[in-house]
Amino acid sequence: MNTDQVSSNNAQIACEIFNGRTSSDSQRLLTLRNVDVFYNKHQALFDISLCIKKGEVLAVTGLNGAGKTTLTRVISGLVHPRSGSIVFKNQNISGMRIEKIKNKGIDLIPDRTAVFSSLSVTDNLKIFFYRSGNKKSVNKSIEESFEIFPRLKERRNFLAGQLSGGEQRMLSLAKALVDPPEFLIVDELSSGLAPKILEEIWGKVEGISANGTTMLLVEQYSKDIRRVATRELILESGRLVN
Ligand SMILES: Nc1ncnc2c1ncn2[C@@H]1O[C@H](COP(=O)(O)OP(=O)(O)OP(=O)(O)O)[C@@H](O)[C@H]1O
Ligand SMILES: [Mg+2]
Repeated sequence: MNTDQVSSNNAQIACEIFNGRTSSDSQRLLTLRNVDVFYNKHQALFDISLCIKKGEVLAVTGLNGAGKTTLTRVISGLVHPRSGSIVFKNQNISGMRIEKIKNKGIDLIPDRTAVFSSLSVTDNLKIFFYRSGNKKSVNKSIEESFEIFPRLKERRNFLAGQLSGGEQRMLSLAKALVDPPEFLIVDELSSGLAPKILEEIWGKVEGISANGTTMLLVEQYSKDIRRVATRELILESGRLVN
Protein backbone atom coordinates (compact mmCIF):
# COMPACT_ATOMS: atom_id res chain seq x y z
CA MET A 1 0.00 0.00 0.00
CA ASN A 2 1.51 3.36 -0.96
CA THR A 3 1.42 6.56 1.15
CA ASP A 4 -1.52 7.99 -0.78
CA GLN A 5 -3.57 4.89 -0.10
CA VAL A 6 -2.71 5.02 3.59
CA SER A 7 -3.72 8.72 3.77
CA SER A 8 -6.90 8.11 1.89
CA ASN A 9 -7.77 5.18 4.12
CA ASN A 10 -7.11 7.20 7.28
CA ALA A 11 -9.56 9.87 6.14
CA GLN A 12 -12.06 7.23 5.12
CA ILE A 13 -11.72 5.58 8.51
CA ALA A 14 -12.14 8.96 10.20
CA CYS A 15 -15.33 9.55 8.24
CA GLU A 16 -16.67 6.10 8.99
CA ILE A 17 -15.93 6.30 12.68
CA PHE A 18 -17.12 9.85 13.15
CA ASN A 19 -20.21 9.56 11.01
CA GLY A 20 -21.14 6.19 12.32
CA ARG A 21 -21.32 4.91 8.75
CA THR A 22 -19.50 5.26 5.48
CA SER A 23 -20.25 8.53 3.76
CA SER A 24 -19.96 8.56 0.01
CA ASP A 25 -17.95 11.27 -1.75
CA SER A 26 -21.15 12.97 -2.92
CA GLN A 27 -22.31 13.44 0.69
CA ARG A 28 -19.04 15.02 1.78
CA LEU A 29 -18.63 18.75 1.73
CA LEU A 30 -15.20 18.93 3.33
CA THR A 31 -12.43 16.39 3.86
CA LEU A 32 -9.18 16.94 5.71
CA ARG A 33 -6.54 14.30 5.18
CA ASN A 34 -3.47 14.03 7.40
CA VAL A 35 -3.22 17.77 7.96
CA ASP A 36 -0.21 19.11 9.88
CA VAL A 37 0.00 22.81 10.79
CA PHE A 38 3.05 24.60 12.15
CA TYR A 39 3.66 28.11 13.44
CA ASN A 40 7.36 28.29 12.59
CA LYS A 41 8.83 25.35 14.54
CA HIS A 42 5.77 24.87 16.77
CA GLN A 43 3.40 22.18 15.54
CA ALA A 44 -0.20 23.11 16.40
CA LEU A 45 -2.11 20.36 14.54
CA PHE A 46 -0.96 16.75 14.06
CA ASP A 47 -2.22 14.48 11.30
CA ILE A 48 -5.82 15.71 11.34
CA SER A 49 -8.20 13.66 9.21
CA LEU A 50 -11.90 14.33 9.27
CA CYS A 51 -14.81 14.85 6.98
CA ILE A 52 -17.96 16.91 7.21
CA LYS A 53 -21.09 15.92 5.38
CA LYS A 54 -23.49 18.32 3.73
CA GLY A 55 -25.98 19.69 6.24
CA GLU A 56 -23.99 18.51 9.25
CA VAL A 57 -23.18 20.66 12.30
CA LEU A 58 -19.83 19.44 13.57
CA ALA A 59 -18.66 20.58 16.99
CA VAL A 60 -14.97 20.53 17.81
CA THR A 61 -14.22 21.09 21.47
CA GLY A 62 -11.00 21.28 23.44
CA LEU A 63 -9.09 23.14 26.12
CA ASN A 64 -7.04 26.32 25.70
CA GLY A 65 -4.26 25.75 23.20
CA ALA A 66 -5.75 22.49 21.87
CA GLY A 67 -5.65 23.81 18.30
CA LYS A 68 -9.32 24.75 17.71
CA THR A 69 -8.63 28.21 16.29
CA THR A 70 -5.83 26.77 14.16
CA LEU A 71 -8.28 24.24 12.71
CA THR A 72 -10.68 27.04 11.75
CA ARG A 73 -7.78 29.04 10.26
CA VAL A 74 -6.39 26.23 8.18
CA ILE A 75 -9.76 25.41 6.63
CA SER A 76 -10.50 29.05 5.83
CA GLY A 77 -7.03 29.75 4.43
CA LEU A 78 -5.63 32.04 7.14
CA VAL A 79 -2.80 29.57 7.68
CA HIS A 80 -1.67 26.85 5.31
CA PRO A 81 -1.01 23.21 6.14
CA ARG A 82 2.61 22.06 5.99
CA SER A 83 1.36 18.69 4.80
CA GLY A 84 -1.92 16.96 4.09
CA SER A 85 -4.86 18.08 2.00
CA ILE A 86 -8.13 19.96 2.43
CA VAL A 87 -10.82 19.19 -0.14
CA PHE A 88 -14.01 21.25 -0.38
CA LYS A 89 -16.67 20.14 -2.85
CA ASN A 90 -14.15 17.86 -4.60
CA GLN A 91 -11.59 20.65 -5.02
CA ASN A 92 -8.28 20.81 -3.19
CA ILE A 93 -8.29 24.16 -1.39
CA SER A 94 -5.14 23.70 0.72
CA GLY A 95 -2.83 26.64 0.18
CA MET A 96 -5.51 28.76 -1.53
CA ARG A 97 -5.85 32.41 -0.54
CA ILE A 98 -8.58 33.28 1.96
CA GLU A 99 -10.60 35.42 -0.51
CA LYS A 100 -10.71 32.56 -3.00
CA ILE A 101 -11.83 30.11 -0.32
CA LYS A 102 -14.48 32.58 0.81
CA ASN A 103 -15.76 32.84 -2.76
CA LYS A 104 -16.17 29.08 -2.82
CA GLY A 105 -18.68 29.32 0.03
CA ILE A 106 -16.62 28.98 3.24
CA ASP A 107 -16.94 31.79 5.77
CA LEU A 108 -15.19 32.11 9.12
CA ILE A 109 -16.43 34.13 12.07
CA PRO A 110 -13.19 34.42 14.03
CA ASP A 111 -12.93 34.44 17.82
CA ARG A 112 -11.82 38.03 17.75
CA THR A 113 -14.22 40.58 16.38
CA ALA A 114 -14.10 41.28 12.67
CA VAL A 115 -15.76 44.67 12.18
CA PHE A 116 -14.81 47.98 10.60
CA SER A 117 -14.19 50.01 13.77
CA SER A 118 -14.41 53.46 12.17
CA LEU A 119 -17.76 52.81 10.45
CA SER A 120 -21.19 52.88 12.04
CA VAL A 121 -23.10 49.72 12.90
CA THR A 122 -25.48 50.32 9.98
CA ASP A 123 -22.61 50.94 7.54
CA ASN A 124 -20.88 47.75 8.68
CA LEU A 125 -24.04 45.79 7.92
CA LYS A 126 -24.51 47.60 4.61
CA ILE A 127 -21.01 46.57 3.53
CA PHE A 128 -21.55 42.97 4.67
CA PHE A 129 -24.77 42.54 2.76
CA TYR A 130 -23.75 44.57 -0.27
CA ARG A 131 -20.58 42.47 -0.68
CA SER A 132 -22.35 39.16 -0.21
CA GLY A 133 -24.69 39.96 -3.11
CA ASN A 134 -27.49 38.11 -1.35
CA LYS A 135 -30.91 37.80 -2.85
CA LYS A 136 -32.67 39.82 -0.17
CA SER A 137 -32.31 43.58 -0.33
CA VAL A 138 -29.61 45.15 1.80
CA ASN A 139 -32.20 47.10 3.82
CA LYS A 140 -34.27 43.98 4.49
CA SER A 141 -31.17 42.12 5.67
CA ILE A 142 -30.27 44.99 7.99
CA GLU A 143 -33.81 44.95 9.42
CA GLU A 144 -33.50 41.20 10.03
CA SER A 145 -30.17 41.76 11.80
CA PHE A 146 -31.88 44.29 14.07
CA GLU A 147 -34.68 41.84 14.79
CA ILE A 148 -32.14 39.22 15.91
CA PHE A 149 -30.10 41.75 17.88
CA PRO A 150 -32.29 44.67 19.06
CA ARG A 151 -29.19 46.02 20.81
CA LEU A 152 -27.63 46.65 17.41
CA LYS A 153 -30.67 48.69 16.42
CA GLU A 154 -30.26 50.83 19.52
CA ARG A 155 -26.58 51.30 18.64
CA ARG A 156 -27.05 51.62 14.87
CA ASN A 157 -25.44 55.06 14.62
CA PHE A 158 -22.51 54.21 16.92
CA LEU A 159 -19.11 53.50 15.41
CA ALA A 160 -18.42 49.76 15.60
CA GLY A 161 -15.22 50.56 17.52
CA GLN A 162 -17.36 52.14 20.27
CA LEU A 163 -19.34 48.94 20.84
CA SER A 164 -18.60 46.56 23.70
CA GLY A 165 -16.92 43.23 22.88
CA GLY A 166 -20.26 41.40 23.04
CA GLU A 167 -21.98 43.98 20.82
CA GLN A 168 -19.19 43.69 18.24
CA ARG A 169 -19.66 39.93 18.37
CA MET A 170 -23.39 40.42 17.63
CA LEU A 171 -22.43 42.54 14.61
CA SER A 172 -20.12 39.80 13.28
CA LEU A 173 -22.74 37.11 13.86
CA ALA A 174 -25.64 39.07 12.35
CA LYS A 175 -24.36 38.70 8.81
CA ALA A 176 -23.83 34.94 9.05
CA LEU A 177 -27.23 34.37 10.67
CA VAL A 178 -29.14 36.53 8.18
CA ASP A 179 -27.22 35.50 5.07
CA PRO A 180 -25.42 32.21 5.82
CA PRO A 181 -22.72 30.85 3.50
CA GLU A 182 -22.78 27.24 2.30
CA PHE A 183 -20.25 26.30 4.98
CA LEU A 184 -20.02 28.42 8.13
CA ILE A 185 -17.18 28.14 10.63
CA VAL A 186 -17.61 29.89 13.98
CA ASP A 187 -14.76 30.11 16.46
CA GLU A 188 -16.16 30.34 20.03
CA LEU A 189 -19.69 31.46 19.23
CA SER A 190 -20.54 31.83 22.91
CA SER A 191 -17.57 34.04 23.74
CA GLY A 192 -18.57 37.39 25.27
CA LEU A 193 -22.33 36.87 25.02
CA ALA A 194 -24.81 36.89 27.91
CA PRO A 195 -26.73 33.62 28.52
CA LYS A 196 -30.08 35.13 27.49
CA ILE A 197 -28.74 36.31 24.13
CA LEU A 198 -26.89 33.06 23.62
CA GLU A 199 -30.09 31.12 24.09
CA GLU A 200 -31.61 33.04 21.16
CA ILE A 201 -28.49 32.62 19.04
CA TRP A 202 -28.44 28.84 19.47
CA GLY A 203 -32.04 28.92 18.26
CA LYS A 204 -30.97 30.89 15.15
CA VAL A 205 -28.12 28.47 14.56
CA GLU A 206 -30.64 25.62 14.64
CA GLY A 207 -32.73 27.58 12.15
CA ILE A 208 -29.95 28.09 9.59
CA SER A 209 -28.90 24.46 10.03
CA ALA A 210 -32.48 23.36 9.28
CA ASN A 211 -32.27 25.46 6.12
CA GLY A 212 -29.23 23.49 4.95
CA THR A 213 -26.15 25.41 6.12
CA THR A 214 -23.28 23.09 7.00
CA MET A 215 -21.31 24.23 10.05
CA LEU A 216 -18.15 23.73 12.03
CA LEU A 217 -18.53 25.15 15.53
CA VAL A 218 -15.51 25.35 17.74
CA GLU A 219 -15.95 25.82 21.51
CA GLN A 220 -14.10 25.17 24.73
CA TYR A 221 -17.14 23.78 26.51
CA SER A 222 -19.59 21.43 24.91
CA LYS A 223 -22.76 21.72 27.02
CA ASP A 224 -24.60 24.24 24.83
CA ILE A 225 -23.07 23.16 21.58
CA ARG A 226 -24.51 19.66 21.97
CA ARG A 227 -27.95 21.18 21.50
CA VAL A 228 -27.20 22.01 17.86
CA ALA A 229 -24.31 19.73 16.89
CA THR A 230 -24.96 16.52 15.02
CA ARG A 231 -21.51 15.24 15.99
CA GLU A 232 -18.70 16.22 18.33
CA LEU A 233 -14.94 15.73 18.02
CA ILE A 234 -12.41 16.50 20.71
CA LEU A 235 -9.02 18.09 20.10
CA GLU A 236 -6.28 17.49 22.63
CA SER A 237 -2.85 19.06 22.17
CA GLY A 238 -3.36 19.31 18.41
CA ARG A 239 -4.70 15.79 17.93
CA LEU A 240 -8.22 14.46 17.45
CA VAL A 241 -8.94 12.00 20.21
CA ASN A 242 -12.25 10.48 19.17
N1 LIG B 1 0.40 32.82 15.72
C1 LIG B 1 0.91 31.83 16.44
N2 LIG B 1 2.25 31.67 16.54
C2 LIG B 1 2.80 30.67 17.26
N3 LIG B 1 2.06 29.75 17.93
C3 LIG B 1 0.73 29.86 17.88
C4 LIG B 1 0.09 30.91 17.14
N4 LIG B 1 -1.24 30.77 17.28
C5 LIG B 1 -1.43 29.69 18.07
N5 LIG B 1 -0.25 29.15 18.44
C6 LIG B 1 -0.04 27.95 19.27
O1 LIG B 1 -0.70 26.86 18.65
C7 LIG B 1 -1.39 26.06 19.61
C8 LIG B 1 -2.86 26.00 19.27
O2 LIG B 1 -3.42 27.32 19.42
P1 LIG B 1 -4.93 27.64 19.08
O3 LIG B 1 -5.09 29.10 19.14
O4 LIG B 1 -5.29 26.93 17.82
O5 LIG B 1 -5.67 26.91 20.31
P2 LIG B 1 -7.20 27.01 20.76
O6 LIG B 1 -7.66 25.61 20.96
O7 LIG B 1 -7.96 27.84 19.83
O8 LIG B 1 -7.07 27.72 22.19
P3 LIG B 1 -8.11 28.72 22.93
O9 LIG B 1 -9.18 27.86 23.54
O10 LIG B 1 -7.27 29.37 23.99
O11 LIG B 1 -8.64 29.70 21.93
C9 LIG B 1 -1.09 26.70 20.96
O12 LIG B 1 -0.02 25.98 21.53
C10 LIG B 1 -0.67 28.12 20.63
O13 LIG B 1 0.25 28.60 21.56
MG1 LIG C 1 -9.05 29.60 20.03
